[in-house]
Amino acid sequence: MFGTGMVGTGLGSALAECGEEVMLGSRTADNPDSIEWAAGAGEGALSGTFADAAAFGELLFNATAGTGSLDALASVAEEDLAGKILIDVANPLDFSGGMPPLLFTGNDDSLGERIQRAHPDLRVVKALNTVTVDLMVDPGRLGDVHDLFICGDDDVAKREVERLLGEWFGWERFIDLGGITNARGTECYLALWIRLYQALGTPMFNMKVVRDDA
Ligand SMILES: NC(=O)c1ccc[n+]([C@@H]2O[C@H](COP(=O)([O-])OP(=O)(O)OC[C@H]3O[C@@H](n4cnc5c(N)ncnc54)[C@H](OP(=O)(O)O)[C@@H]3O)[C@@H](O)[C@H]2O)c1
Repeated sequence: MFGTGMVGTGLGSALAECGEEVMLGSRTADNPDSIEWAAGAGEGALSGTFADAAAFGELLFNATAGTGSLDALASVAEEDLAGKILIDVANPLDFSGGMPPLLFTGNDDSLGERIQRAHPDLRVVKALNTVTVDLMVDPGRLGDVHDLFICGDDDVAKREVERLLGEWFGWERFIDLGGITNARGTECYLALWIRLYQALGTPMFNMKVVRDDA
């Protein structure tokens, strides 16, 4: 798990509860947030640097601030990324001008693509970035079936991520948008997500795409 914020710790705890061994990675080995998390999240919970977490993990999550994601991944040995699936949960949000944030990638690029371009042997699957962390790990809390958008260039990796997200957290409905360039769509959705959050006063919502199946 790259990331020690609310997403890294929230996903990490949920995975540990599912019986997975999880290492949270940070810029520094002595990050107090990840040390505290590891002390409280059970036997299989560990903390280290981004490089340690990459070496440890069979499957990787990017839960870093979008502005730091490429630097976080650049600090890792390339052989510890090659061939592995990375579930990219991050969003390219620029809060430097205050709320609501802008997307620093514009709309003809995306963070998911930038990560895939920088690490061609990594199997980047963009998923979970369109829901708040409490729903990432427990979609059933909304009491209705709703959709998770997923994209990436590796079909086998996407099917594996769907299977795992179903098994771990109970996700049932996925909309596969296609290749990683479609991260432009799911990341741009954050512009709407943030305004919905402000209008509704809660992050506990998601999209349910109603279609005419006839
Ligand atoms: N909050 C949500 O519910 C939610 C939902 C969907 C998607 N997301 C996305 O998930 C990601 C994580 O969000 P968050 O709120 O948990 O945490 P965050 O505060 O956005 O990110 C914290 C992590 O980013 C790392 N980081 C920050 N600047 C960095 C830099 N310059 N270089 C390398 N690493 C850097 C930090 O490293 P250190 O450990 O060294 O401090 C820390 O591990 C974000 O991209 C966010 O947009 C969040």
